[in-house]
Amino acid sequence: MPLRSHIISTGSYLPKRVMTNSDLEKIVDTSDEWISQRSGIKERRIAAENETTSDLAISAARQALERSGLKPEDIDGVIIATTTPDQTFPAVAVKVQAALDIPAGIAFDVQAVCTGFIYALSIADNFIKNGQLKNVLVIGAEKMSSVLNWEDRTTCVLFGDGAGAVILQSQESDGNSGIYSTHLYADGRMADLLYTDGGVSSTGKSGHIIMQGREVFKNAVNLMAAAVEQALRENNITASDIDWLVPHQANSRIIESTAKKLGLSMDRVVMTVDHHGNTSAASIPLAFDEAVTKGDIKKGHLVLFEALGGGLTWGSALIRY
Ligand code: UT7
Repeated sequence: MPLRSHIISTGSYLPKRVMTNSDLEKIVDTSDEWISQRSGIKERRIAAENETTSDLAISAARQALERSGLKPEDIDGVIIATTTPDQTFPAVAVKVQAALDIPAGIAFDVQAVCTGFIYALSIADNFIKNGQLKNVLVIGAEKMSSVLNWEDRTTCVLFGDGAGAVILQSQESDGNSGIYSTHLYADGRMADLLYTDGGVSSTGKSGHIIMQGREVFKNAVNLMAAAVEQALRENNITASDIDWLVPHQANSRIIESTAKKLGLSMDRVVMTVDHHGNTSAASIPLAFDEAVTKGDIKKGHLVLFEALGGGLTWGSALIRY
C-alpha cells in the first residue's frame, strides 16, 4: 500500500497576556464595536517582550511530541512556518530541534506568511510520500506583535501571537486516511496588497505590516473558495462530505462568506478568530488543536484547511484525521 502522511498528534501554545479590544481603545482611535463588527475579533494574545517565536514554537512542539508518545529521536524532520523568526538566521526550526533534543535530521523554516502552515504541511507530506522522512514536526509560529505599527489602527487591532503544531507520520494507507491532497498557489503581482515596509536587505529592520484590507478581503473570499473547489473536484467529493472546515483565522466575515460560497453551515466551521485574532501561519494549527482538544474534530473526520496571505499566497489541504 502507498505511504501517506497521518496527523498523529497536535499541540499549541498561547502567550499569557490577553489584549482585549477595550485595551486597544486606549492605544489607538478605535472601538470594540468597530473591531468586533468588521473582523469578529474580541481579544488576542500578545507575547512578552523577551518571549520569541521559537519560545512559542517550542512549547507547542513539546505538547505535540508528548501527546504522540514518540521519543525525540523518532523525529527526523522539523518544518516551521513563520514570518517572524527570532533572527534572520538560523531558522526557528533548528532552535526547536535543539530544545527538544531531536537528533540531526532535516530542519528549516518556510515563509509563505498566513498560508505558511499549508505550505509547510505540503512540503512535509511530499517528503513522507517519497519515503524520505517518517515523523515530521510541522509548526506554525508567530510573534505578529513584533511587526505591528501600534499607531496604525487599520492593522494593529487585527493580529495576535501564538503557535500550533502537528506531528505527521508516514503510514501505509488504503487511500481513505491521512492527507489526501494539498493545493498551493501564489501570485506575486499582488505583493503590494499586504507586506512589511522593511527587511534585512532593504532597510535592515523587519518593518511593519501595511495592508490594503478591502482588496485582500475580496481576494481572500474568491481565491480560497476556488482553491477549495479544486480540492473537492480532484478528490471527487462534495462540500457535504466535509466534516470540518478549518480556515485561516483573519476575519469572521471572510470565513462566513467562504463557507456560504461552499454551502457549508457554520456549525461545521472552526472559528477561533474571536479569541486568537489573526496569528498568520499559526492560525490553522492553533484552531485545529483547539477543535481536536475540545472533541469537536474526531479521528476519522474529513477536514479541510484553507488559507490566504501576503504574497499573495493561498492554498488548501484535505485530510482524514
Ligand atoms: O491574514 C492575511 C489576510 N488578511 C485578511 O484577510 C484581512 C482582510 N481584510 C479585512 O479583514 C478587512 O478589510 C478589515 C477588517 C481589515 C477592514 O474592514 P473593512 O470593512 O474592509 O474596512 P475598511 O478598511 O474599508 O475601513 C472602513 C473605515 C475607514 O474609514 P472611512 O475611510 O470609511 O472613513 C477606516 O479608516 O473604517 C476605518 N477604520 C477604523 N475605524 C475604527 C479602519 N480601521 C479602524 C479601526 N477602528 N481599527
